[in-house]
Amino acid sequence: MSRFRSVIAGVGGYLPKKVLTNADLAKMVDTTDEWISQRTGIHKRHIAAEGETTSMMATIASKRALEAAGMEAGELDMIILATATPDLTFPATATIVQKELGMLRGFAFDISAVCSGFLYALAVADSFMARGQVRSALVIGSETFSRILDWEDRTTCVLFGDGAGAVVLKAEPGAPGMGERGIVHTHLRSDGRHTDLLYVDGGPSKTQTVGHLRMSGNKVFRHAITNISGAIARVLDDAGLNESDIDWFVPHQANERILEGISKKLGLPKEKVVSTVAEHGNTSAASIPLALDVAIQDGRVKRGDLVLFEALGGGFTWGAALARM
Ligand code: ACO
Repeated sequence: MSRFRSVIAGVGGYLPKKVLTNADLAKMVDTTDEWISQRTGIHKRHIAAEGETTSMMATIASKRALEAAGMEAGELDMIILATATPDLTFPATATIVQKELGMLRGFAFDISAVCSGFLYALAVADSFMARGQVRSALVIGSETFSRILDWEDRTTCVLFGDGAGAVVLKAEPGAPGMGERGIVHTHLRSDGRHTDLLYVDGGPSKTQTVGHLRMSGNKVFRHAITNISGAIARVLDDAGLNESDIDWFVPHQANERILEGISKKLGLPKEKVVSTVAEHGNTSAASIPLALDVAIQDGRVKRGDLVLFEALGGGFTWGAALARM
């Protein structure tokens, strides 16, 4: 039994200034605004400026999350940064953020689970906190997918964008209960048999290059709906809750049609779904905290609300989490 709950004390986000619209993309590859909008719901995405890195975006989002939590970086015990686009092969981008924040204690490391990275990082942080090993944590998703896209491949380059989101977790005594704030439950899965459906064709060990993202989009789509629905059913069951208890659905933002398919299966009305995919595109590990930040800023997600997160990414990795805000 947990001795501590991980309470989400602050959330922050950052999007690069440069915006790339579907019309801009239509000048670069053989595509149209109509095709992209109808198949994905995406209208635009943000692209990191030259020299703007994953750690830089993560640092800004983290400072905003710390400010929202009313905390200083020096009070943090741990940083976990989820990314598939680190600044360098090593050191971990999290340690660069640690330095930039001026955090001189604790420890920092990266997690690689692509689009599910934020959920994996949240679950790992929650475990450290439940055992009382850390009292505060920064969980970040930050990505510069623009650097691993093949800008001549219309099947992938229209889908992704850059950005960062961060949450500050604080330990509160007592196991997560029905009405108390904190992470209620998490459920993680992976299945390595499907690496060929979504991957990057380069890496230090195999090619000594960074590589480009490759994807069989329609196969990923089918796996996404089935796997995510299964993870949501499991996390609700483990928590002793059901669909009608959910106040807000804040999913990984890959494709409007995936969001619609899953919310329909859950019986959730559109008004309860936080969707930022139209403006952000798919920002991989950053998409959930970025969407949560938007919904807190505009007043939708409030203290005490039960929020459902879910994601699926390369590997495949996938999962779901429930948090009482
Ligand atoms: N513009 C115009 N035509 C295009 C484009 C484009 N940008 N991209 C592909 N097409 C063409 C294809 O070449 C194909 O043409 P053909 O029939 O002449 O061969 C046609 O459109 C249909 O291609 P499909 O891949 O079957 O299209 P689909 O309806 O499956 O939509 C999409 C593609 C949007 C990628 C969809 O499969 C999808 O969203 N999949 C989920 C993948 C995803 O979101 N991955 C992100 C990482 S995982 C995650 O975050 C969940």
